[in-house]
Amino acid sequence: MNIQIINGPNLNLLGVREKSIYGDSSFETYFTELQARYPNHTLSYYQSNVEGEIINKLHEIGFSFDGVVLNAGAYTHTSVAIADAIAGIKTPVIEVHISNVYKREEFRHHSMLAASCRGVIAGFGMDSYRLAIENLIASK
Ligand code: DQA
Repeated sequence: MNIQIINGPNLNLLGVREKSIYGDSSFETYFTELQARYPNHTLSYYQSNVEGEIINKLHEIGFSFDGVVLNAGAYTHTSVAIADAIAGIKTPVIEVHISNVYKREEFRHHSMLAASCRGVIAGFGMDSYRLAIENLIASK
């Protein structure tokens, strides 16, 4: 399967940023482990801090790839435009969060994106991404 992971704003700082919440591994290190774990599948990784670039990436891969694992960061809670992009493409999207957003501030409890996604996985640390990939592979 062809699976695209997309990370949104500030997730380039994983391993540096608020380690007590997000852990001390960079996403690049974790992504190498993920690729080794799924040698029969093609995993691609894209990160952007820019809302429009995330939308462009969804449009670019959203009619040919088999699945998207999307951590839109804070845009999760604000972006009608990313929600519309998810609704407009064919490829199924799974929303993921490293932290358990429901244990955190009230403004993180609502997702603008979830209703357009296949499902949501939150609170399992980096393992949230693997759980999403497992679903995409199992339901192919
Ligand atoms: C996050 C949760 C968001 O609320 C936050 O803005 C992030 C990361 C997570 O992975 O836990 O940037 O998406």
